[in-house]
Amino acid sequence: CSFLKEKSRKEVLEVLCQGLARQEYRGYDSAGLGIDGDKTGEVMFFKEVGKVAGLRKQIASSAVDMNKTCVSQVSIAHTRWATHGPPSTSNCHPLRSDPTAEFLVVHNGIVTNNNALRLVLQKRGYTFESDTDTEAVAKLIKYVYDNQADKKNLTFTDLVKTVLKELEGSFAFVFKSKHFPNEVVTARRGSPLLIGVKTDKKLKVDFVDVEFAGQDNKDVKIDSLQPGSPTALLAPPSINPKDGLPQPIEFFVASDAAAVVEHTKRVLYLEDDDIAHIADGELHIHRLRRKDDNAQSPGQIASTRTIETLEIEIAAIMKGKFDHFMQKEIYEQPESVVNTMRGRVNFDTNQITLGGLRAYLPIMRRGRRIVFIACGTSYHSCIATRAIFEELTEIPVSVELASDFLDRKTPIFRDDVCVFLSQSGETADTILALRYCMDRGALCVGVVNTVGSTISRETHCGVHINAGPEIGVASTKAYTSQYIALLMMALQMSEDRISLTERRNQIIAGLLAIPAQIKKVLEMDPVIQQLAHSVADNKSLLLMGRGFQYATCLEGALKIKEISYMHSEGILAGELKHGPLALIDENMPVIIIMTQDSLYPKVQSAFSQITARKAQPIVLCNEGDDGIPANAKTIRVPRTVDCLQGMLNIIPMQLLSYHLAVFKGFDVDFPRNLAKSVTTE
Ligand code: G6P
Repeated sequence: CSFLKEKSRKEVLEVLCQGLARQEYRGYDSAGLGIDGDKTGEVMFFKEVGKVAGLRKQIASSAVDMNKTCVSQVSIAHTRWATHGPPSTSNCHPLRSDPTAEFLVVHNGIVTNNNALRLVLQKRGYTFESDTDTEAVAKLIKYVYDNQADKKNLTFTDLVKTVLKELEGSFAFVFKSKHFPNEVVTARRGSPLLIGVKTDKKLKVDFVDVEFAGQDNKDVKIDSLQPGSPTALLAPPSINPKDGLPQPIEFFVASDAAAVVEHTKRVLYLEDDDIAHIADGELHIHRLRRKDDNAQSPGQIASTRTIETLEIEIAAIMKGKFDHFMQKEIYEQPESVVNTMRGRVNFDTNQITLGGLRAYLPIMRRGRRIVFIACGTSYHSCIATRAIFEELTEIPVSVELASDFLDRKTPIFRDDVCVFLSQSGETADTILALRYCMDRGALCVGVVNTVGSTISRETHCGVHINAGPEIGVASTKAYTSQYIALLMMALQMSEDRISLTERRNQIIAGLLAIPAQIKKVLEMDPVIQQLAHSVADNKSLLLMGRGFQYATCLEGALKIKEISYMHSEGILAGELKHGPLALIDENMPVIIIMTQDSLYPKVQSAFSQITARKAQPIVLCNEGDDGIPANAKTIRVPRTVDCLQGMLNIIPMQLLSYHLAVFKGFDVDFPRNLAKSVTTE
């Protein structure tokens, strides 16, 4: 919404398309937008299945007059990742209430009582034109509006509040309506939402007050609870004396900072059950009252929302000299791991300082057990570091997939330490698991990449992995940085254990050498590329290893599946005889990870068992290891401390998957059916 000056359609469409394109990295299958039509109150839609580039093409080839000024100051756009109904133009957002589009809505999340709402609305004569859950919301708001006797005193915010009270599930919504032409209402519960604020430099506002719903369900201003505090809601519509125009201000509502950072670095993150109303250059935040909200004393709920300044640079989310984001991110690892350690590892004194955990260390050390909870690649980084965590802390560690953890209603107690790993900090299952553990009184620790994300805000304490924006859907640099973050956590927790000094020093020395060693592994890229071409025609690829390398097998296989669509499986070598051996013959390609650690003899025996069955495994081993049969194909990586070796071993697997996908002509950064952040259950 712009209160800057009247904008042409061309300008507005550019802002919308660019914002959508900036969120492409999260994965989506269709895109759409709604802007003002020629007549007041009329809405023009553009919708396209596939990429934002396709949407741009559709706009460019339309006969619409691009120089015409937009009548209202509000326009909305959306990229969709199908949950209810396949990707199609009719399922694209914005969804409308009726053919004249009295109300428009875009939605991120899932409305779980959609079926019930649909039935009720259908009974009342509404005809649905999409399969989406969102359309029920668009129709419901019209239904509520039509049934209000006193339309004059009805505010857009009240209308949305009434609708939200009927909804179950998770959401971030933006509403636009021809009944409230220059207004927008946006609200969240469970899905991320932020508002970028672009103002004249002179206009400095650092926070926004929140209005709490009173017992009588009318809004009560919270000013009285904060005597002396500035009362300003973000409200600058005073007239500029120079030109007599309203003070310039624009608001960008988005689910991801990447979409707004081009326009402003000042953003305000909304909390669950916040409803933001923007009109006439003013932003007001209201609360949707829940049973546990006490209007007069909001307790846990902050009464202001701070406007933060983002550190994210647009250059950092561009591809640079690389063909794909994933390739760029693989190559960034020598620096990203340094960034994870920066200011935290003192290589002179062998001390680790994770500032965000310091105050909680005594509780963490007293914990009865540690539970790692995550999804996808983040889950694999937990598997990779579990053994060293147990060794250093002497506390039992369990590793949980967030969805399964919730499915099982896993018992969690006050003396548990629950650690939530997430690159995005927005993975719905992980967030739900976090809230589950919070409710049970456990200490909740976050390990996330995205500053300001839900997990980073809702945990008691945590570590930012500082890997920089990761855009390729297949996670790479986040893995190695999470790996290091968890190691640092274990090292810090064990700093008072004298008997472990030597082991700790050995690991810290290993960490110092890791960036240069990663660089060295990256130099093998051309060899890995050839290897990828040689296995590209196979239907399947097995990755085998044990101990610290089991995680490498799982993560390597996930990378291959995700982007090259080849079947791949990570196999624990210790389980070989319990099934996987049946798969082995001269035609089954196998990569066996045989870097030198205490389990080396056991992996050697697995190697013998599969070669005896005519497999010709590719061996991932250490440089200078002469125990590998001379006729075996090898990938040789530098040697490091056992618990760090996985960080070097994963690099050739990342490169292998990358080259497989490029060779097969697949979209490396946006694999089919997958999303970067899975913000729905
Ligand atoms: C999706 C992504 C994966 C990621 C997983 C967990 O599946 O495609 O790359 O590992 O989510 O995401 P998180 O942001 O929680 O680490």
